[in-house]
Amino acid sequence: MFGQAEDYERFMGRWSRRLARQFVDFAQLGSVRRVIDVGCGTGALAAAIAEIAPAAEIVGIDPSAPYVERARSQVRGQFTVGNAQELAFEDASFDAACACLVLNFIPNQKAALAEMRRVVRPGGTLAAVVWDHAEGMTMLKTFWDVVDELDRDPKPVEEPNPLLGPRDLQRLWHDMGLVDIRFEPLVIDMPFASFDDYWQPFSHGQGPAGMYVAQASPAMRVDIARELRRRFSISNPLAPFTLTARAWAIRGTKKAAGESQTPTRT
Ligand SMILES: C[S@@+](CC[C@H](N)C(=O)[O-])C[C@H]1O[C@@H](n2cnc3c(N)ncnc32)[C@H](O)[C@@H]1O
Repeated sequence: MFGQAEDYERFMGRWSRRLARQFVDFAQLGSVRRVIDVGCGTGALAAAIAEIAPAAEIVGIDPSAPYVERARSQVRGQFTVGNAQELAFEDASFDAACACLVLNFIPNQKAALAEMRRVVRPGGTLAAVVWDHAEGMTMLKTFWDVVDELDRDPKPVEEPNPLLGPRDLQRLWHDMGLVDIRFEPLVIDMPFASFDDYWQPFSHGQGPAGMYVAQASPAMRVDIARELRRRFSISNPLAPFTLTARAWAIRGTKKAAGESQTPTRT
């Protein structure tokens, strides 16, 4: 699902970069000295951190070796293959642990958050952002609405959990015993040069939507594209258009030493 770095860049990575610029401000990463980007992918968040905190030591982990390789080649930082549920780092060794558009893909989210909390120092930050799949992520929401309407027998795509909504995120942060929790929508514009600029990247098999399109019949792809153009009111497929995307961002602080931490079952 996440194996081709350049295809991911054309599909979602370019939007991650726009979102990451807002997310680093929201997560207040400007003064961090050491930060871990959990599920770093091709390096969108790490690049935004490098910009806002030029002196920070940036560490990134992701299970996709090709994505890690791309991050390494493009962004200042130490990028390694790894799993959020078992972080290979010392306790309290980071000022912040962040996950950009990752939590929905992690089978045991509580285990991952417990690991993020473990590696962050007392007083440090845990922050994450996920797309508002229910309403605000027009690009993907419209696609899945069309699939639901046209495909009577869709093959299931690999998604380990129900998608996180705003309440789920806030509950996770509270259950981790974090304090000073802040929750906000982040909204970005997504400009497309043409309908093809939107639609072509779906065919490269990255992420659940890409996996769905990769296995759909040619006839189904044509029908989906036609219905998408209708729903986006696109009369000229060569004309540029813009979609808006909303994501939910959350941050919290690990309690300082001496304050009791709520134990969390994983
Ligand atoms: C939608 S991509 C987001 C990547 C990047 N953070 C960005 O914003 O572009 C989801 C990422 O989660 C990673 N991922 C999936 N399971 C994971 C796990 N157990 N631990 C860490 N990352 C994981 C995938 O490999 C993929 O790179």
